[in-house]
Amino acid sequence: MAVINYEKLLIKIKPSKEENEKVNKLSDRLVNLINEVALEMNVHADAVLVGSVAKGTWLAGNADIDILIKFPLETDDDYLKEYGLKIGHRCIQKMKGSSEERYASHPYVTGYIDGCYVDFVPCYNIKSSSELKSAVDRTLLHTEYIKANLSRKQADEVVLLKKFMEAIGTYGSEFKVGGFSGYLCEMLILFYGNFSETLKNAAENWNYGYSFDLEDYGTSKLFEDPLVAVDPVDKNRNVAAALTLQKMSEFIVAAGNFINDPKDEYFFLKDFETNQKILIEQFKTRGTKTVLLCFKPPHIPVDAVYPQIKKTENSFVRVAESEGFKVLGSDSWTNENELALILIEFETYELPDIKKHHGPQIWIREHKEKFLEKYGEDAWIEGDRWVVIVKRDYIDVELLLSDLMTGKKSGYLKFGKHLKKRIMKKHQIVDVLEFLESNKAEVNILDFLNHYLDKGELLFR
Ligand code: UTP
Ligand code: MN
Repeated sequence: MAVINYEKLLIKIKPSKEENEKVNKLSDRLVNLINEVALEMNVHADAVLVGSVAKGTWLAGNADIDILIKFPLETDDDYLKEYGLKIGHRCIQKMKGSSEERYASHPYVTGYIDGCYVDFVPCYNIKSSSELKSAVDRTLLHTEYIKANLSRKQADEVVLLKKFMEAIGTYGSEFKVGGFSGYLCEMLILFYGNFSETLKNAAENWNYGYSFDLEDYGTSKLFEDPLVAVDPVDKNRNVAAALTLQKMSEFIVAAGNFINDPKDEYFFLKDFETNQKILIEQFKTRGTKTVLLCFKPPHIPVDAVYPQIKKTENSFVRVAESEGFKVLGSDSWTNENELALILIEFETYELPDIKKHHGPQIWIREHKEKFLEKYGEDAWIEGDRWVVIVKRDYIDVELLLSDLMTGKKSGYLKFGKHLKKRIMKKHQIVDVLEFLESNKAEVNILDFLNHYLDKGELLFR
């Protein structure tokens, strides 16, 4: 069996000495600059470096510098927001970077400076979780906890775990992924000691509702999530709350696969070779009908877009099935800006004109009359139930989808809150084959379709 040379592997996935120096220098420069700008603007606030750069747990090639702008506890909320953003923008401007406002639980400013992504997040300067005012305040405590408890050797183990997670598609707590956050990876390494033990335990011992509690607060019973990781700095929070059952399961299985046959490939993104022609062949061979609902996503924070698209997707599937069509699978994708796609693959997409409709049981005598009034002598009995043949509303799934999207068949579909207006106004329903033949698909869409057809592709190497 192959053996992994972790030292060699780490050389590839950890930042090099030069990259480290560059990022640390830039981080220091930015912290100082924020403090200077605050002083200039006469604002009582100071900056601190947090996140994986502060903790020494970042991956080569994608430094994301997280800087908190701390305001005193008694600061007015609106003041904090206004000046937090102003300071952030000003700082990025001075560094000649590009900036953009985003929204988590608070608004914050994100910038791109010298090849690095930088987040400036205003927060309250709290000393313990009892003073928490918003979710971002916790980040301060997280960084301190990890810096105080994670050894240098263990920071390397975190890097291995994050990289493994990234390569199998389970890294990132944002809605788009629904996977493990960096902080959760750090907690796992603290709990199990190292990368190998973490994978071994996940593969062999985790089950639904598995919990761990680094500080033995005894509060894990409070949570009902698939995985419970009691936050060592806040006993009332489950750090794994955003982890979906899907991603937890994928991690458990991939961990088992890796243990059975360890390979370096598990730490690197898989290259997929696909193209329009291959995909067309693959979809054709399935003999199903796959449609894409295309529309423009709303301009709302990305973390809000994904759940709304998902909700709309699930609703389309439910309504189509309730009309008698059979769905094999569905998925969705967006470039977060111009285009969103909901894919639905149908096993049954054409139906006969008629369907069987079940009426009341004969015992419920008072319902008989009403039923017969409506259906008359065409009705008959099966067992103890009235039955009748009725005409279907829809025999062709595209017509149903179209009526749902234009609101002709309204009241059935649950749109994500901000999607309804947009979809009603403008959308397209295209067969996936037509879509692929029209040559419109960008690479990311090809990847999305490829992943749809081969959902287990990331779990094995
Ligand atoms: P990041 O997502 O940037 O995480 O959030 P990170 O630890 O820096 O890891 P990478 O390397 O960039 O991916 C910054 C901080 O926000 C808090 C954590 O304290 C984290 O360190 N956070 C973020 C959470 O507590 N939960 C989350 O789901 C996301
Ligand atoms: Mn980060």
